[in-house]
Amino acid sequence: MPTLDWLRKEFHYGYSSGDVLAWFPDKHRREEERQIVGSYRRFFMREVKPRLRPDSKVLELGPGRGSWSRSLLKYLPKGELHTVDFQDVSQWLQPKLYDGRLTCHQVTDNTMAPVPDASFDLFFSLGVLCHNNSADIQTVLTNARKKVKPGGIAIQHYGDWKKLDTLGWATRHNIPKDFKDKRDDEIWWPRNDQETMRRCCENAGWKVVSIDLGSFGRDSVALLENPR
Ligand SMILES: C[S@@+](CC[C@H](N)C(=O)[O-])C[C@H]1O[C@@H](n2cnc3c(N)ncnc32)[C@H](O)[C@@H]1O
Repeated sequence: MPTLDWLRKEFHYGYSSGDVLAWFPDKHRREEERQIVGSYRRFFMREVKPRLRPDSKVLELGPGRGSWSRSLLKYLPKGELHTVDFQDVSQWLQPKLYDGRLTCHQVTDNTMAPVPDASFDLFFSLGVLCHNNSADIQTVLTNARKKVKPGGIAIQHYGDWKKLDTLGWATRHNIPKDFKDKRDDEIWWPRNDQETMRRCCENAGWKVVSIDLGSFGRDSVALLENPR
């Protein structure tokens, strides 16, 4: 399933995680946070917001309906957000509402061809690499690094099967246990863990600052730096 062909089609309806900064999560976000074991708001406030300047330029992979994009834009009053998705996310994010601060690129592959080179301070995603297999993750990270300024950073959420092993693959975490008996191209949560992710990041030329910021019980989030 996590083939590019599957990914290009699967999220056509526009995936949303709700308002990730709201003090009181709605029912859907509460359910996602129960599954991931953590708070989206706390993650954003502790790990993302302190790394943004008002004029930062941010590249976001896979915004869907834009739960994280709206949160990023809130803290980029003089900055810019570029998004890259297989879907036409401008129908949900409405770039015209943001005075030129938001550019949405619809793509068909992982080359990031329409995105300007060496332009971004931060490359961000949540809920995206967990659906990409490790070969595609390495391609995404390799091509995205060329778009980030030297010294710029990445905050990338990914699936972590070792954490799932520790949690015991319980139903409440939403990843079916029988995925363990299937190949990566048959499932929507392909194998990944911190060791594999570190290898992908380093092969793509990133310096791994932290392979997991420890924000979530089920999944991991890497903090990376593009060497100067
Ligand atoms: C599960 S949704 C998550 C949406 C949003 N980030 C959130 O957390 O609410 C995954 C989104 O990433 C996009 N996506 C997944 N892999 C991608 C890739 N390799 N390149 C571009 N977009 C991708 C999908 O089209 C979809 O819109």
